[in-house]
Parts: sequence; structure tokens; C-alpha cells
Amino acid sequence: MKLTSYLQWQNIQHPVLTEHQTELWLRYVPSSNPDISGNKLLKLKYQLEQALQQKYQGLLTFGGAFSNHLVATAAAAAENNLKSVGIVRGEEADINNPTLAICQSYGMRLIPVSRAYYQSRYLQETLQQLKGQFPDYLHIPEGGTCEAAVRGVSELDMRNTPAGPASLLICAVGSGGTVAGVIHGAETTAVLGIAVVKDQSLPDKIKQLLPSERHWPEWRLVQALHQPRYGRFDQELWQFCQSFAHQGLQLEPIYTGKALYSVFELIKRGEIPPGSRLSFFHTGGLQALKGLAYRGLISPTADSEQ
Ligand SMILES: Cc1ncc(COP(=O)(O)O)c(C=O)c1O
Repeated sequence: MKLTSYLQWQNIQHPVLTEHQTELWLRYVPSSNPDISGNKLLKLKYQLEQALQQKYQGLLTFGGAFSNHLVATAAAAAENNLKSVGIVRGEEADINNPTLAICQSYGMRLIPVSRAYYQSRYLQETLQQLKGQFPDYLHIPEGGTCEAAVRGVSELDMRNTPAGPASLLICAVGSGGTVAGVIHGAETTAVLGIAVVKDQSLPDKIKQLLPSERHWPEWRLVQALHQPRYGRFDQELWQFCQSFAHQGLQLEPIYTGKALYSVFELIKRGEIPPGSRLSFFHTGGLQALKGLAYRGLISPTADSEQ
């Protein structure tokens, strides 16, 4: 089956799922542009709306040299006739790598900065300086995460799979905005976030996006069980990602594949009980495959060659 950009749900088959009587449904966000896919479309929705309503000239944001968010911001800006600026982590960043090349193809102006400067991206002083340099640009935080992003993600109904209500909603967690949005939209369904970065402050960052006056469904965060450091993966994890290709499911090993690997481990350990119906948010990020192939970390796949 060929995955189309308008697919909303996909039921995944796997011997582990059969053995543990678990249903797995992947939730997609329909998008006509693969460069603004998954959580990005939802995270940017209200920030774009604000930029257009308040007549900003462009969007300014931050990301690493292979950032999915930079690509999505560049593409979203171009689609809406806005300019874009990307502050890139590391002066040494190769601006011709596939990710940054896509950004430039959308007209994004890239500014590679030292890691020390990048570290200061949340400081008022840095933000003021950038505001002075780019006065008519809406500043979007790294990863797009902010209250508006959470609102956008919360609108995705992950609860009602085609087979009936899910018992658990799951997504990969980086900066925490996506899982906060999933929790906002979960009503009474439990939520599981799989952290693919090692960040002790992540639970607090997520809590800050969940106002204390509301009653939230049960949610928990689990560190990725295999290759927990951000960006790391091995052959086993990459083979796991590829093993779903024949079902039309494309995964990359940094976010979606790594998170799904942990889901399978939790099923095998009985920590996700038999009889569960899982709704897993496919957060996109497939452009990263091109970057991994470019760096020789995977052999080119049909998708990474596109
Ligand atoms: C493909 C993909 N999945 C999941 C995430 C995690 O989202 P968040 O940073 O909102 O936790 C990201 C990061 O933006 C991502 O690029």
C-alpha cells in the first residue's frame, strides 16, 4: 500500500501485536506538502495565523543543521508569501546538506551561529538583538513549541480510531509541545510520551504547558528504551524502522521509529497491557532520512533519494 499524504489512520500488523492482542493505529495529519508534515503543520498553524493577521513580513526561528522544524517553517512561510530566517546551531553547519538545502529552496535565509550564541536563544538579550535586526519577523521558538503550538496539536483527534476509542495515545517527545497538545486533546484517554532526548527538565516543561486549573487525563513520560540519546541509533533500530516499509509505513530512527521501538518493548514487557488499542501520532520528520543518507549513516532508501 502506498502511503498517500491524505491518509489519516493506518492499522499496523506485526507478530508482537498479534501475540499480545494489541491493536496499533497510526494517526497522520493530512498535508498536501510533505515538508510541513505531522506535528509541524499543527504546531505552526496558529503562529502562521498570527503572522498573517498582524502583517509580519516573515518568520524567524531556530534549529539544528538537520531540523525538521526549520524545513517546515521555511515551507510554511513560502506557502504564505512570508520571508523566513533560520538561526542554525553551529557555525560549522554545512548549509548545503539536504535539510538546509530544502530550507534555502523555500527562500529561507540561514544564519549559522556559534553553539554558545545558540545556547542563549531564550535569553531576553538575544531575542531583543534579533528583534532589532529583524523587526518585522514573528519569532517562533525552537521546535515551534509554545502555547499556540499546543493549541494546534490539541485539535487533532487521536482518540477515535476507525475501530473505536483508543485506550492509550502515544507520541515521540523532543521539546514537549506535541505531547502537551495531545494531553490537551485527550479528554479522559491516557497519554504516553516517549522522550527521544535526555532532558531532565522535560516533565516540568510539559507541566508548564498544562494550566493547573484544569483536570488532565493520566499522562506519563518514558525515556526511549533503546539508544536514548538524541540522534543516536544503531542497525537494530534502523532495521526495525525499515521492517514496516512493506506495509507502506515510513519511519525515521530519530523520533517516530525510536518511539515506536519503545512501544514494542513496553508491549513485550507487559507494561502496555494486552487488549490495548494504541493510537500513535506519526509526527512526520521523514526529510531527516535524506540527511542521514547524506552523512552515510544509512544507505539511501527510496524515500531519502527523492
Ligand atoms: C518528527 C518529529 N517528531 C516528534 C517531535 C517532537 O515534538 P516536540 O518537540 O513538540 O516534543 C519532533 C520535534 O519537533 C519531530 O521533528
